[in-house]
Amino acid sequence: MKNKYKDVYPPYLPWHYFMFLRVRKGYRQYATRRGERAARKTGPQGIVPDGEGFFVEDDNGFVPNPVDHINRSAIWMDEDLARPDIQAIVNNIDRIKTELTAKDLKYTATAASFVPRMYTEYSEKKNAWENAWCYRYSEAKPGEKILDIGGASTAFNFFLASQGCKVSIIDNDWNNCGIIYNTNYVGQKMGWDIRAYDLEGGRPLPFPDGYFDRIFSICVIEHLTSEARRGLMKELGRVLRPGGTASFSTDYDHGREVLIFDKGLRFAYREKFENDVIKPSGMSLYGNTELIDAFPEQNFLGAFFLKK
Ligand SMILES: C[S@@+](CC[C@H](N)C(=O)[O-])C[C@H]1O[C@@H](n2cnc3c(N)ncnc32)[C@H](O)[C@@H]1O
Repeated sequence: MKNKYKDVYPPYLPWHYFMFLRVRKGYRQYATRRGERAARKTGPQGIVPDGEGFFVEDDNGFVPNPVDHINRSAIWMDEDLARPDIQAIVNNIDRIKTELTAKDLKYTATAASFVPRMYTEYSEKKNAWENAWCYRYSEAKPGEKILDIGGASTAFNFFLASQGCKVSIIDNDWNNCGIIYNTNYVGQKMGWDIRAYDLEGGRPLPFPDGYFDRIFSICVIEHLTSEARRGLMKELGRVLRPGGTASFSTDYDHGREVLIFDKGLRFAYREKFENDVIKPSGMSLYGNTELIDAFPEQNFLGAFFLKK
């Protein structure tokens, strides 16, 4: 790999796969611009309208005892990370990072790239919270079958694989930097049962009904269009076994405009969240039924859990 691409792509990426990624990047950039142009003419399509209530408790403000809540915003990130049970999970994931680095194997920063500047102190802390919180309340056990959406090459998934889990990952490698290839390469080198599939979320999943014990998706569903998200949730409900859990982190996204052709991302609205996420899955909210978003005008990261 040329110097220019050092730190951007894994050094062990085959040249023909590198060429494929470069071509796909060009095509995707063109398709996005074309989609935006079309959306400017038609306006947002297929969006679940905003609902009435926010996901806040009765007093419309702080929740008296946030510790009881597993479905919640990350505004308590610092105190959560200070808890010994959460810290232990963070440490275990960090150990995997150290082990991979010692072997010159790559894992991604939070925005799914290998670019060193993407590893900021805040983004790493945020990701540590998401991973540890979702894992802590997932009921996941070593040796289980796990599906992760949008987590190719994350230290989190390598950690799950190191626990003896059979990990399958669906990801479209949005940065075209080789995260699918890297997952499979690292898995092979480490002798872990982990496999990433280069597929679009929202399309039919290549797994039988009830195949997985657990599902994870960290910081992904807010990036999908409403249509893809509903399709994905339906498929997740199909491939999870009865009694299995699905753990998500997401931005609640009040008013954020990520894709001009889809603005259906404001999960802090109760009806929107139910219609766009919970109902299509056929699952139910596991843990507290109120999501906590004490400052609904702002844009919060949070975690929520579903059970089949
Ligand atoms: C913000 S990153 C989060 C990555 C990872 N889960 C983490 O915690 O660091 C979003 C991820 O979703 C994936 N992604 C985005 N849109 C997708 C789509 N339509 N289908 C499948 N994966 C997608 C990206 O490739 C990327 O890996």
